Amino acid sequence: MLDSLLTSLTDTLGTLRDALLTAGRLTALAHLREPRLRAQHDLAREVSLRVEQAGAVQDFLARYYNVREPQVAWPAALVEELTSWLESGAPVPAIEHLRKRTLAQASGLAEQAILLARSNLHGGPTLQLVEALHASLPNECLGGFVSGEAPEQPRRVLRGPSEVALDPVFAPAFSLADGPEPTRRDLDIDKCPECWCLAVRECMASELCALSIAEYDGLPLAFHRDFAKQCWDEARHALFFLDVALELLPSFVRDAPRGHPLLASAKQMLAEGRGLGVPAEGNLYSVVWSLELAERLVVMHLDSETPGAAQALADARGPFAQTNATYRSGMEVVARDEATHARLGQRWLKHLLPSDAEREETMTRARYLRAIHIVRVMAQQRGVPLMQMAQAFLSQTQEAPR
Ligand SMILES: [Fe+2]
Ligand SMILES: [Fe+2]
Repeated sequence: MLDSLLTSLTDTLGTLRDALLTAGRLTALAHLREPRLRAQHDLAREVSLRVEQAGAVQDFLARYYNVREPQVAWPAALVEELTSWLESGAPVPAIEHLRKRTLAQASGLAEQAILLARSNLHGGPTLQLVEALHASLPNECLGGFVSGEAPEQPRRVLRGPSEVALDPVFAPAFSLADGPEPTRRDLDIDKCPECWCLAVRECMASELCALSIAEYDGLPLAFHRDFAKQCWDEARHALFFLDVALELLPSFVRDAPRGHPLLASAKQMLAEGRGLGVPAEGNLYSVVWSLELAERLVVMHLDSETPGAAQALADARGPFAQTNATYRSGMEVVARDEATHARLGQRWLKHLLPSDAEREETMTRARYLRAIHIVRVMAQQRGVPLMQMAQAFLSQTQEAPR
């Protein structure tokens, strides 16, 4: 009797873990269709919350019942539904409906786990866990959630959207084909445009985490926990930088040199609540979208997060931080977060490619591909042939913009 109770309880908890994870992954897809930065932030927080809850259930299962960490997979029926949703460019409500249904199923599973735990020797700690989870889930209960079958190797089972929209407060104002963003990091007056341009890049980082969470099956739960954490971190950074820029906007408009290339953008923002000037090429999401997971880790984590962590620390200790306490404390958090991202990137790159030679080869390929796709995006934006843009790009600089 006790054996079958334990089996029912561990099975129910395992299915609850999978339902929470699926709810997190569905939210990651909704995130990719949401351009508004504040709404995107709330969705990223929800991704992190649900994936962490799945992680807490798994930690419990491993600790109490010796259940091994699963490889993550979408339920088979959902892959078809999501593929047609993504291909049709259907609106967000369709995914919202799936997400709510999955959370209602999780709620039903939590309720079932509560009943089983009440008649089980491990009732105490199990009840504590599942009652807290149940309280965070919607009131409706739906049963019938089916876990997915993970492939043996990590595999891209869905293709996320190839383009994302920027928040309507931003507007194209310059091209990366003409050189780096027209702000200088060493000038305090440029802190305002520098921060709104950083907000756009942080958005991209958050979107790319959501993309990899949604697209790949066959990775450990720990991968999804790391990327869900980063997804929310980056969305928080984006909001933080936007809020700093908005706070500095009046003084930027007052004190910036009259010929500053982003002054008109700032004035438009003050007058109309939109127009913050950003690259015409957008946030370059589509560049990294074009890459495989291991290549994304090279481009995003090795090449951007590692230097990003050092830059954030330098900014937290820099002269501007000495004059603005909100900025300083925010940058201290950003610096700490970025250091964790650099570490998790290395961890998962080694997981995917354990051999040094394979990693080296992927690093070289990823950097070439990144440059090629940046040139492609610039050529599309300018409406010129790819070769013409490639020649201009090569003659302008050997260092591609980040
Ligand atoms: Fe960040
Ligand atoms: Fe980061």
